[in-house]
Amino acid sequence: MSSILVTGGTGTLGRPTVTRLRAADHQVRVLSRKPGPDHVVADLTSGAGLQAAVEGTDVIVHLATSQGRRDVQQASNLLTAAAGMKHVVVMSIAGIDRIPLPYYRSKLAAERLVAESGVPYTILRATQFHNLIDRVLSAQRFFPAVIAPSIPLQPIAVEDVAVRLTELVDQAPLNGRAPDIGGPERRSVPELARQWKQVRASSRPVVPVRLGGRTFRAFADGAAMVDGPPYGHLTFGEYLL
Ligand SMILES: NC(=O)c1ccc[n+]([C@@H]2O[C@H](COP(=O)([O-])OP(=O)(O)OC[C@H]3O[C@@H](n4cnc5c(N)ncnc54)[C@H](OP(=O)(O)O)[C@@H]3O)[C@@H](O)[C@H]2O)c1
Repeated sequence: MSSILVTGGTGTLGRPTVTRLRAADHQVRVLSRKPGPDHVVADLTSGAGLQAAVEGTDVIVHLATSQGRRDVQQASNLLTAAAGMKHVVVMSIAGIDRIPLPYYRSKLAAERLVAESGVPYTILRATQFHNLIDRVLSAQRFFPAVIAPSIPLQPIAVEDVAVRLTELVDQAPLNGRAPDIGGPERRSVPELARQWKQVRASSRPVVPVRLGGRTFRAFADGAAMVDGPPYGHLTFGEYLL
């Protein structure tokens, strides 16, 4: 049994990960900016409360994200506080070195900080979560059509990612990246949007779009998908039900 601090433990991936780690008999505390049961309150961006939050912890599972550039500052503050830790397991995104989105660049910079920190670590990259695709499609509810970029994705369920994170916590640090993980199916966004439309009983047409620019090209070339066999089991269609 390890004493584990989960940053981002209140988030989409964090919640099933905390459940899974507890089911594996680990002692888990959640780092959050808000008080709550089993929470330690700290702010990764400012660093406030961080030193006290990591006290008594063997392993940190770092899932927090600003969804933007502050991920670098957050990783830097966390690593300073994590000196002497047995293992830091860090969540990242598949294809960040091939897709020039500003958010992905900051994830890549954060990965580099982790690798250079001297703290024993394992980085896990995963493909887009099912709920992200659901959110992007649902956000268009006031549009007359569902706009769907013609790019392939390999979405994964957060419950499947949580299983892999728990496996990694129970192993020695790799001091590198674990093999990237992706979901069971590779589907174009228009295909996913048609599935979504059927389950959500939307009558609006799905409109595939092709965009210019390096980011779209990288996605269109499959840069967001992973090599090798799928890790995840739950499909997007099953997630929607
Ligand atoms: N979404 C995807 O499709 C996807 C795909 C692959 C990898 N990932 C990665 O998976 C990880 C989890 O993503 P997610 O979608 O589950 O995130 P999320 O639902 O947006 O949750 C973000 C979490 O970060 C915490 N956080 C944000 N700013 C913080 C701060 N200043 N101090 C402390 N905590 C802070 C929040 O905690 P409080 O609000 O409680 O403070 C929250 O728990 C991220 O590293 C992300 O890059 C995401």
